[in-house]
This record gives sequence, structure tokens and C-alpha cells, in this order.
Amino acid sequence: MSVKENVLKILLNSQNQYISGENLANILNVSRNSIWKAIKSLEKAGYTINATSNKGYALISSNDILSSTSIKNHIKNQDFFDITVLDEVTSTNTLIKERGNLGEHEGVTIVSGHQTNGRGRLGRNFHSPTDTGVYFSVLLRPKISADKAIFITTMASIAVSEAILEVIKKPAHIKWVNDIFVEDRKVCGILCEASLSMENFDIDYVTLGIGINVYNPNNGFPEEISQIAGFLLEHRQEDIKNKLVASILNHFLELYTEFDTEKISAKYKTLSYVLNKEIFVIKDGEQKKALAIDIDNACGLVVKYDNNSIETLNSGEISTKIIN
Ligand code: BTN
Repeated sequence: MSVKENVLKILLNSQNQYISGENLANILNVSRNSIWKAIKSLEKAGYTINATSNKGYALISSNDILSSTSIKNHIKNQDFFDITVLDEVTSTNTLIKERGNLGEHEGVTIVSGHQTNGRGRLGRNFHSPTDTGVYFSVLLRPKISADKAIFITTMASIAVSEAILEVIKKPAHIKWVNDIFVEDRKVCGILCEASLSMENFDIDYVTLGIGINVYNPNNGFPEEISQIAGFLLEHRQEDIKNKLVASILNHFLELYTEFDTEKISAKYKTLSYVLNKEIFVIKDGEQKKALAIDIDNACGLVVKYDNNSIETLNSGEISTKIIN
């Protein structure tokens, strides 16, 4: 960790208490001048720090800036995730795929506050404006057959829903299969991409990408998603994005370590946004009205059409509203 990251960690843990430059220098075994430079660099990054000559430094506000130091502060299992925060990226999924192809280890995580080429499902773009959302991807190397890959997406959906309830204090629900809804608006999308080994077609690695709209984007949402997209918080809150990312990673790791598919399906069902609702199944450009009647043990969505025929959907797209 750099001096800057170490200073931030100490200030974050000092909870508005002053700590002298001399103390910081002693703890970190560096010069007072290095501490001063670290403080200036934190201020430049947007942190509000009070400095008084007799008391020292106190962190007044982190202005909800994303930082690996703060995320790690809230992570329970320090060994699994290897977290890097970058100001701007093309797409965290694209970057993690590059790392996966290089053979890097499971747990490598890239977090960013801005994507210039955020990718969504079905080749769509994912709106990822600067400073109001958080976008991150995790490299996973699960020892599972390809047909179990769906459970990675469902575990992530559960983890996001649980984290939103824990950190934001709002109930969140999962629209099959990987959109998270709060107050009837999509606040999060998940893109899980598996890379298969060419030798035996087993999973080589998985890129798990999660994008969350935390605040209202400065210029609003683009027209095409304005009827569906929503955000979690009206006003900025101290350190909330870091807490949210950490909580998602904590919840995800618990489920992933256990990999209890029955438990995952059961939880997924209780968090469903569509169960027992009228939905539209989108297939070959057509929208077919149906009732979502069940979610099976493989996380397939069981639907009943108007003519009483029943189908289990294992992939594809549904909508809760008719799309014009
Ligand atoms: C969707 O709603 O279609 C899925 C959106 C997934 C977006 C996330 S943001 C982090 C990661 N990087 C990407 O380019 N996409 C995923």
C-alpha cells in the first residue's frame, strides 16, 4: 500500500478524530514531509481534510469517492479479493477478460466510477456515466461444469439485493434473470461472461460484471431507458459506494464458497420481482403474454401462456411491461 492509501486508511478508521502528522509518520515509518504530500494528494482527489497546527489531521468527508482502501476496510475476507479502483475505464468486464486470458488468479476485481464503453446483455450498451454509479467486475475460476454457470449470475443477483437492503435500507428484487429492481425501477444490471477451455469445454474463467446506478446521472438517463432505469439515492451519502461494493462482495463470497444450488434457488425465488406476475416473454422479436408461475431448481423461469401451455425458460428475455 502507498503512503497515501495508508494515511487514508488511518484517517477513515479515526472517525473524525484528529491525528498528528508526527503520529502518522511514526506509525507508517515515513517522514513528516511524506505525510504532508499524502494529505495534499488526498485533498486533490476530493477528500475534505481538516488540518490544524496543534491537533493534526482529521478526515471530515470522503465525498463518497471510490477507493480500494475503503472497500477493503469493509471487506470481511481480506484474502480472496484483489481490488483495484480506476477513475475511468472502457469496460471493467473487458479489462477483467484481459486479466483472465493472462491466467491471473480468481478474485481480481476492477472497480470504476466511469465506463466509456460499458457493456450490457445481448450486445447492448450499459449507460455508465461518471461519478453517479459504480461499475465493477470480478474474475472467477469456479470448478463447475458450464451448465452450472447460471448460478454465478443468480448468486450475484442475490448478493446485490441483500447488499442494497443492508447498506441502502431499501428492499430490492430480482427480475429474472439478472436485473435488480428497487421501487419498480431497474437500478442494477449484471453481465456474467464465461470463457470456456478449448480442450474440454469446461469453464476456464468467468467475468462477473455488476453496474449500479447509485445516484441520478447528472444529465438524467438516456431517452431509451428513461422509463425503466432508476437510482438508489436522491442525495449523496458518505462512503456509500464503497460500502455497497464491499457488501456485495461479502454476500457473494459467502454464497460462492458454499455453492449450495438448492439454497441459491430458494433465496432467488423469495427475491423474485416477477413471480406470480403477468410478464411478456420476448422471443424472435415477439412479445408473448404469460404468467410467471415458478422458478425451478435450475433457476429456470416457469411460465404459463394464455392458452394454458407451460414453458420453462432457461435463457432469453422477459419484460414486465409491454415494450413499444
Ligand atoms: C445489463 O443490464 O444488460 C447488464 C449490464 C452489466 C453492466 C456491468 S457494469 C460493470 C461491467 N462492465 C461492463 O461493461 N458491463 C458490466
